[in-house]
Amino acid sequence: MDLYVKGKTAVVTGASQGLGRAITKELAIEGVKVFAVARNEALLDGLKDEISAVGDVVPVTFAQDFVAPDGPEKIATMALSALGHVDMLINNAGRSRPLDVNGPEDEWSAAMTLDFDRHRQLTQQLLPHFMERKQGAILNITSTYELRAINASAVAKASIVVWSKQLAGQLGRYGITVNCLQPGLIDTANIRRVFSDDERTKFAEREIPLGDFGEPQDIANMATFLVSPRARYITGSVVVVDGGMRHYPF
Ligand SMILES: NC(=O)c1ccc[n+]([C@@H]2O[C@H](COP(=O)([O-])OP(=O)(O)OC[C@H]3O[C@@H](n4cnc5c(N)ncnc54)[C@H](OP(=O)(O)O)[C@@H]3O)[C@@H](O)[C@H]2O)c1
Repeated sequence: MDLYVKGKTAVVTGASQGLGRAITKELAIEGVKVFAVARNEALLDGLKDEISAVGDVVPVTFAQDFVAPDGPEKIATMALSALGHVDMLINNAGRSRPLDVNGPEDEWSAAMTLDFDRHRQLTQQLLPHFMERKQGAILNITSTYELRAINASAVAKASIVVWSKQLAGQLGRYGITVNCLQPGLIDTANIRRVFSDDERTKFAEREIPLGDFGEPQDIANMATFLVSPRARYITGSVVVVDGGMRHYPF
């Protein structure tokens, strides 16, 4: 299926590894010029090399700490200057943050900053541009909101879900879509910190109907569709890609 994304432009945060890296690569292969942001310059350079080996639309990379107070403004300014205009925004940077039930204030605040505020702020930086052009596809990579143990990142991502729904309600008239993509357990560094190989196998056999954790490519496939013109009538949605993991115990 032609996704009609060739020649379009995108900003992807958290592009150096894991889901953001796979999304950047898939968009580039489909002919999208990506402004790829993360802190690790060496990984971003490696991504550029990887993409130039398989396609001709090489991303522009930008090393920036997203948590820096002026991070969102710098990213938006540099992206507009490098790309000319932005068609798609994929808010992906983040990190899992399991905490004790009385977790410290600084960890809660760090999670809300990285996993909610900076995404909202970057989106707000680009909104006037999207509204003026009367087009734009915003996709937020979120997380489950049904964990049974405290994870401050998942709380911040739940805020993103509510905010996205509200934004979608107000931005539809400008031709702008706002959606969330909720991964289950996808094999990235973020998740390998929590599950050893052995734990992964046992957990997947027990809890995931499709039998294993997902690959970053599984998320990249859905992300690329959701920001493409093929998804023009989808907004305010949360799309789950989890191998069937989510369930009630009966
Ligand atoms: N993998 C899963 O199963 C899963 C499940 C639920 C939700 N998620 C969500 O999916 C997103 C991607 O996760 P992942 O599994 O791909 O994680 P990952 O492999 O650890 O990658 C995280 C990305 O975020 C970037 N990042 C983190 N802190 C940053 C900062 N301060 N400034 C700039 N960039 C920063 C990292 O880049 P640098 O380190 O180079 O800065 C990296 O590119 C996250 O928001 C995560 O919460 C993932």
